[in-house]
Amino acid sequence: MNKNELNLDKVYIDYIKKRLDGMGYHFISLIIDKMVSFIECSFVDIQIILNSKSINDEKITKDFIDMLRVMERKFLHMLQVIDIAINLSEVNHYESYRQIANILVATFHDFGRILEIHKVGTKMGSNKVNHTTLGLSYLFDDSMERERIKEYLSEELYLIYRDLIYTGIEYHGTKDVPYGILSPLATSVVKDIRDADKLAVMSSFVDPNTDMDTVFHMPFEELAQIPIHDVTLKEIMSHKQIDRSNKDVPYDKMRQFISHIGFIYDINSPLLYDYLYLTHWVERYIGHVRNYLRDENQDKMYEIEAECLDFLRKKQSHNINAGKLGYKVFQKK
Ligand SMILES: [Fe+2]
Repeated sequence: MNKNELNLDKVYIDYIKKRLDGMGYHFISLIIDKMVSFIECSFVDIQIILNSKSINDEKITKDFIDMLRVMERKFLHMLQVIDIAINLSEVNHYESYRQIANILVATFHDFGRILEIHKVGTKMGSNKVNHTTLGLSYLFDDSMERERIKEYLSEELYLIYRDLIYTGIEYHGTKDVPYGILSPLATSVVKDIRDADKLAVMSSFVDPNTDMDTVFHMPFEELAQIPIHDVTLKEIMSHKQIDRSNKDVPYDKMRQFISHIGFIYDINSPLLYDYLYLTHWVERYIGHVRNYLRDENQDKMYEIEAECLDFLRKKQSHNINAGKLGYKVFQKK
């Protein structure tokens, strides 16, 4: 693999496209092709800009390579979310219309991330813009009497799914969703995209292909030495998500590590509880640090593990198909 080149996961792209084609959704495969072209063109844009600056600057070159790797990861994440969105649709026996809604929203949900990277890469975006806002304004801004989302959809798909895609992107990652103002269909689509997104991220944390150094920028041996704050322990034991905005507690790597466990308290579909419990997600995730924990952390982590497992166990729906929810892992190492 050339480190200066963009390497999108061709094997996974083909797998997802074949799955979609097999379901009769070839038109969604074509959207994925368009996105690949978009990313490849963005990559060329960035290269041209960097070359024009005649850089021998090591820092810029390093930033560029880092950005490429992020772009590849974000695209892989998109494929994983599509994969899970298809699984959720199948396990729930959705009819075609509902399946397509899930898959289209999954396909576009993080489009803003790709734009964000492009902006940072070309040094155009000095101010950090929220990726959701960026994606929405790019795809749905009709100030030029056209919306770019139309470039990806046929007229028919546009008319049927435009609003659902918009709503799905808008609320896929917000803290609070105003479910009261959404239609039952939009509510269900938003819940599914939030679950698929979360499950993709959580699964990536226990996926042997994931380079965890790029997640924490710190070896687990070191992370395990950071004391677990009492507030963090209290939050997780009382089934609350870690409050990142709480300035009284330092948001250190240990708090960040535990915040991922707190994702289990923001799940919509009972199927996910089954899946996480059956695949031993909590045990595997805590397994990253288990053998390195300093003494005073050991009891606290044990408490967290026991509480979370108990929570998942009690929430289970015992759906025999829940085990099919995860994304496909192609072992690379
Ligand atoms: Fe996402």
